[in-house]
Amino acid sequence: MSTGKIMITEEQVRTRAAELGAQIVSDYDGCELVLVGVLKGAVVWMADVMKAVDKDVTIDFVQASSYGSSKESSGVVKIKKDIDTDISGKHVIIVEDIVDTGNTLSYLASEFASRGASSVEICALLDKPTGRKVPLDVKYAGFEVGDQFIIGYGLDFDEKYRNLPYVSYLED
Ligand code: IMP
Ligand code: MG
Repeated sequence: MSTGKIMITEEQVRTRAAELGAQIVSDYDGCELVLVGVLKGAVVWMADVMKAVDKDVTIDFVQASSYGSSKESSGVVKIKKDIDTDISGKHVIIVEDIVDTGNTLSYLASEFASRGASSVEICALLDKPTGRKVPLDVKYAGFEVGDQFIIGYGLDFDEKYRNLPYVSYLED
């Protein structure tokens, strides 16, 4: 297996983060907002998004897992590391690297809603609609990708490639 071509450059990601950040600022005017990044894949995107949200905001991280070392989702989501923030009465945006089946985010969104969050929305760098198994509204989506295994900009295969400063894919 090898790394494919560059699909999305760092500059394109930054530009998109700036657009979504501006949209978030206007959508959450006067609201108490918490950005929750999903470890580990979202860290690079989260850093871009939070810098683009020009308002008072707090951040936290959650670690969930539905993937083992294989490329297929097991469908079973677990929280491996929880947030420390009391999100009751606050507006939450979950910042994620990619939405594939939707299992992880639908689980996390309903979990955060059950803790009394005033609203829960999703900001994903990538949306892979062909993989969807559960319906999910991705309010802030960076880019749509096809049915490929994506790596780079935080996304891994077997914990490798997260450090690539661009979005690429795995080639056989
Ligand atoms: P879900 O299938 O939507 O629950 O996605 C679960 C997680 O699988 C995502 O947060 C990613 O970390 C990972 N994932 C899904 N598709 C890909 C991919 O194409 N490349 C790398 N990781 C992926
Ligand atoms: Mg992930």
